[in-house]
Amino acid sequence: MSQETTLIILKPDAVQRGLMGKVLTRLEDKGLTIVGGKFQMVPKATAEAHYAEHAGKGFYDGLIRFVTGSPVLVLAVRGVNAIAVCRTLIGATNGQKADPGTIRGDFGMSGGYNLIHGSDSPESAERELKLWFGDGELVDYEPSRQAWVYDPSDL
Ligand code: RTP
Ligand code: MG
Repeated sequence: MSQETTLIILKPDAVQRGLMGKVLTRLEDKGLTIVGGKFQMVPKATAEAHYAEHAGKGFYDGLIRFVTGSPVLVLAVRGVNAIAVCRTLIGATNGQKADPGTIRGDFGMSGGYNLIHGSDSPESAERELKLWFGDGELVDYEPSRQAWVYDPSDL
């Protein structure tokens, strides 16, 4: 079975608002597998590397202040098409515009404080997982429920 791994961050607003459990539940309920996790303050250099594509934009300085100002929960999440599936679960960048049923659509009212990050492509996922996790920090295992999450004939 060919699975992808994506980088998810529960941002400072999700942590401060006590929404980590609800968001994690959505990922788990979907059938995705958590294969890595760390709760941490984000070093400025890591935040800048993570959001390098946005350097120079009007919201960039505030974004770096936001993401480094309070703890985050960094996760590696695995599943078939996990990158796109997580982006769908997350919803549009601005919570006011995100569809109901998505994480941002159900829990957010902001474009900056938008609760959660998810890698946007296989290239981003590879780069971001290397940035946030060291060698050996992801755990390869198959959850016991896996056989009932995927129909083998779909894969
Ligand atoms: P993310 O990278 O965090 O998963 O979010 P995204 O793909 O939906 O949005 P992106 O365009 O990559 O923007 C990165 C983060 O920057 C903040 N932002 N603020 N105030 C604004 O106009 C604005 N635009 C973006 C958000 O925190 C966004 O998630
Ligand atoms: Mg992005």
